[in-house]
Amino acid sequence: MEHTKHIWRAFLILGALGIALMCGRHFAVPDSFGKAGHYRYDSLKEMMSRPVVHGGSKSCKEGCHDHEERFAQYAKGKHQTVSCEVCHDPVTYHVKDGEKIADMNKRATFDLCAYCHRKIEGRPKTFPQIVFLDHLREQDVPITDEIPAGICFKCHDVHDPAIE
Ligand code: HEC
Ligand code: HEC
Ligand code: HEC
Repeated sequence: MEHTKHIWRAFLILGALGIALMCGRHFAVPDSFGKAGHYRYDSLKEMMSRPVVHGGSKSCKEGCHDHEERFAQYAKGKHQTVSCEVCHDPVTYHVKDGEKIADMNKRATFDLCAYCHRKIEGRPKTFPQIVFLDHLREQDVPITDEIPAGICFKCHDVHDPAIE
């Protein structure tokens, strides 16, 4: 017995740690965890209580922009899969109860294009990507130190950007 003391001590310490762990878990894990899967069930209600801000391109069309030439262009152009709200703002910032409440944001700078078209190795090879300076040089645009903010719009219509 005398010679096995250290083993009992180790068991005692392990047991104490186990109990501490279970107590800690009891207080740290939220009540609704595991109710319907490996996640906190109450988070669903919290997500659902957040206001809906996006309406989708359909809301712009059905709202006011259907008659515009711009929409027809967009609908057949290369950007037809890009939602209006990606480049502008969520519709609820602009319209409330059918009334216009604020101007829509329009980010007419090359940063907007860079977001999707700047060449990044990780992007699918089939997606149109450019190195901005090379692209502008190829198009004979005289570039000094800085790229002018609105340069892409000189040649590309943002709602129908392809140049045949
Ligand atoms: C790829 C980004 C992009 C998408 C997608 C897009 N827009 Fe635009 N839109 C812009 C930019 C940038 C401007 C400003 C262009 C300029 O000044 O030459 C603009 C301008 C406009 C304007 C003119 C605003 C003004 O004050 O002159 C309207 C209206 C508009 N867009 C509506 C729409 C609608 C409706 C959709 C969806 C059907 C849409 N846009 C989709 C980027 C986009
Ligand atoms: C949110 C992402 C997004 C933004 C922002 C965006 N584009 Fe696009 N663009 C796309 C997608 C998606 C396509 C369609 C790609 C395809 O057909 O494979 C496209 C296609 C194009 C094409 C046609 C390429 C071809 O196949 O001939 C051009 C040109 C273009 N975009 C220019 C622009 C310019 C200029 C801007 C900035 C004003 C811009 N894009 C902003 C997503 C975007
Ligand atoms: C002087 C005119 C001009 C300017 C300015 C210009 N482009 Fe272009 N762009 C073109 C032409 C023409 C083509 C089609 C021929 C080609 O692919 O080289 C094109 C093609 C593209 C393509 C498709 C490339 C592909 O691989 O299919 C993208 C994306 C694009 N431009 C984005 C931009 C962006 C972003 C800017 C702003 C930094 C910009 N362009 C500025 C004329 C221009």
